[in-house]
Amino acid sequence: MIDWKPKACSLADELAELGKLTMPEWRAAVEATPRHEFVPAYYVHEAGRWQLADTSSPAGRDEWLRRVYSNTVLITALSDGDSGKVVRSSSSQPGLMVRMLEALDVHDGQRVLEIGTGTGYNAALLSHRLGADRVFSVDVDEDLVEAARARLAAIGHHPTVATVDGAGGLPGHAPFDRIIATCSVPAVPWSWIEQTRPGGLILTDVKPAVNAGSLVLLRRTDEGAEGRFDRTYAAFMGLRKPGAAYTSIARPRDRSNAVERTTSIAPGMLQNLVVWFLAALDLGAGASSGYTGSDPTQAPTAAWIATADRSWAEIDLQPDGGTYRVREGGPRSLWRAVETAHDTWLRLEQPGWDRFGLTVTRCGQWVWIDDPSSPRRWQIPT
Ligand SMILES: C[S@@+](CC[C@H](N)C(=O)[O-])C[C@H]1O[C@@H](n2cnc3c(N)ncnc32)[C@H](O)[C@@H]1O
Repeated sequence: MIDWKPKACSLADELAELGKLTMPEWRAAVEATPRHEFVPAYYVHEAGRWQLADTSSPAGRDEWLRRVYSNTVLITALSDGDSGKVVRSSSSQPGLMVRMLEALDVHDGQRVLEIGTGTGYNAALLSHRLGADRVFSVDVDEDLVEAARARLAAIGHHPTVATVDGAGGLPGHAPFDRIIATCSVPAVPWSWIEQTRPGGLILTDVKPAVNAGSLVLLRRTDEGAEGRFDRTYAAFMGLRKPGAAYTSIARPRDRSNAVERTTSIAPGMLQNLVVWFLAALDLGAGASSGYTGSDPTQAPTAAWIATADRSWAEIDLQPDGGTYRVREGGPRSLWRAVETAHDTWLRLEQPGWDRFGLTVTRCGQWVWIDDPSSPRRWQIPT
């Protein structure tokens, strides 16, 4: 028997100290929920590959419980990707989960749909708070849903858990007062708007491209939904199609058609995720970026960007006389989009996430700054 209650209480203390857990209702949910039941096993990335962590030896078991009852994301399922195993599901950082649950502003009697059941832990927190008959949760993979349902039942919760593509919501049980997605979407599915009551809230991570976007809280309006991005960046794994692994546009291998130039913008600017977001809104859906030199024993030498139209850019990490060498190929100059986004960001006085908002209508979705009526707006690429 695992004496988990003191551990759940100390997790709640940790989340409170971090400023993530402030509401007594959610503290009670964290204290009453045995996270270890939802994460009986987890993977670690060691020596360049994923492996199942040891949970059978005394030391392995201690480490498992230490991680489960701390503010730690735990990888719980993998699948085969183009170049090895890729993450399929995880138990998100508890601090992020409770921060989102608090932002969701739920009230007694409300019905909530969660997209991305995963382990079922978040559905357990919701079930504790609202009663399981008001909680609905969907995931795209049958095995995840079956396991989550069994774990929830084992601790006495029986929410509606279904295997569907969350992009379509759960129309048979709509309308919902709240929809919360614990996976990211390139744009907000219209079905979620339709399935939310007027005045209801949708909380999701909107990322039109890899790492480009963050959590946004939308209120259902007559025309669609509207709201602001959360001030703190967050990242979830993306919504994927049934039966598909996560994929992203790879760094191009053929770089024979490169055009060379220099830039004064350091490639480290890709780490400024607001600038990268603005650039990605221009680059188009699915743009990806990374660093050359995937061999972890060797330091990377360049950053790269690639888009669906086979454009690419590679920027040296080391400056040469105060500028950085850029090589580009394909129909568009991708680094130009980053330079322009950086310039826009400076002219807007270096805004953080919370100055941006999102409007969703049946006809389109666009990002705005400061105010929905602002003339500065960027279409979400589709
Ligand atoms: C970060 S995990 C969710 C964590 C979960 N809320 C928990 O408490 O453990 C993201 C989940 O989104 C799911 N997902 C991905 N694409 C989906 C889709 N199209 N529909 C529903 N769920 C999806 C993944 O299978 C994964 O389990």
